[in-house]
Amino acid sequence: MEEKDFAAHLTATMTGSALTMLIGLGHRTGLFEAAARGPATSAGLAERAGLDERYVREWLGAMVTGGIFTHNAGEYTFPPEHAKFLLGETASNLMPSLLTLTAFNGILPDLERCFAEGGGVPRSAYGPHLESLGAKTGDSWKHIYREHLVDGFFGAVPGLTEKLTDGARVLDLGCGTGHAISVAARAFPASRFTGLDIVPRIVEQARETNAGLANVEFKVGDAADLTADPPYDVITAFDAIHDQDRPDVVLRRIRGALPEDGLFFMVDTNFSSHVDQNVGNPLAALCYSISLMYCTTTSLAEGGAALGAMWGTETAREMLADAGFRHVGVLESPRPQNCIYACRP
Ligand SMILES: C[S@@+](CC[C@H](N)C(=O)[O-])C[C@H]1O[C@@H](n2cnc3c(N)ncnc32)[C@H](O)[C@@H]1O
Repeated sequence: MEEKDFAAHLTATMTGSALTMLIGLGHRTGLFEAAARGPATSAGLAERAGLDERYVREWLGAMVTGGIFTHNAGEYTFPPEHAKFLLGETASNLMPSLLTLTAFNGILPDLERCFAEGGGVPRSAYGPHLESLGAKTGDSWKHIYREHLVDGFFGAVPGLTEKLTDGARVLDLGCGTGHAISVAARAFPASRFTGLDIVPRIVEQARETNAGLANVEFKVGDAADLTADPPYDVITAFDAIHDQDRPDVVLRRIRGALPEDGLFFMVDTNFSSHVDQNVGNPLAALCYSISLMYCTTTSLAEGGAALGAMWGTETAREMLADAGFRHVGVLESPRPQNCIYACRP
């Protein structure tokens, strides 16, 4: 990259960062919801949202020049085709991911200390907004599950839909707030679903999410203690392996808990283990950053393996083979940042 191009690249990076902060602010002050009700002047929008006009006007300036709102003859518009990415109950809404990112601001001083002294930032340091990423991940993923779990994720693995339709015993490991089970249990009433998570408060939330469903149960427990009793036909793990403190132990336990015709269905990040091969991937820098600010440091705080979110398909394949999975297919998922590992003994 030439010098002047690099300067422009860096300026665009700073702009993205500043806009991310202001988008979070717009969410917390209700500005996006107010703006979605239709075009308004800055005074009109401020009144709608119950806010101070001078601040709203400056915020709108950033939104217009940042390509999020449009402006014409004194009126500001939040186009519906943009609004669906920042509001609403669909998988397109990126706001939960954006808020997760801004919540990392609070731990930056601790992280800087770790650069000098080693060690890690414990999950408890992330504050109420992000105490456990499980709850936040649930917010991001609940719409993704609703729209893509059955056809996009399960449908990608030959024979899985039939197995679940006929009736299988399924364990969702690191189930978080239980949104995957909520969709799966309704789609496959002949199957029986168990959710396992290490955080009791999250398991409570999962039970509330799934209240009234007869074919589900939730347990508090450590995946590293998983046994083959009771036996499962299918074990799923959505975004729950790379953060494990002892991922090698967990993968071996999963293999041990499955019969010879069992399936381990793992959804994880879709990158290479080698940084060179991630150059040019538009999602890679974001994922390395999240990995540093959460996955790596929280694992190091527990003396864990610190695989990080960028452990990559090569390392994942090696670890799955070491755990005893002889047949591993890496399949595309409905989201470019994730892939599906269909692992069989
Ligand atoms: C990134 S979240 C994913 C949550 C959920 N699968 C989803 O899609 O919403 C990872 C989850 O794994 C859980 N977890 C981490 N280590 C665990 C362990 N050793 N045993 C069981 N659950 C664990 C966390 O509490 C968290 O809820």
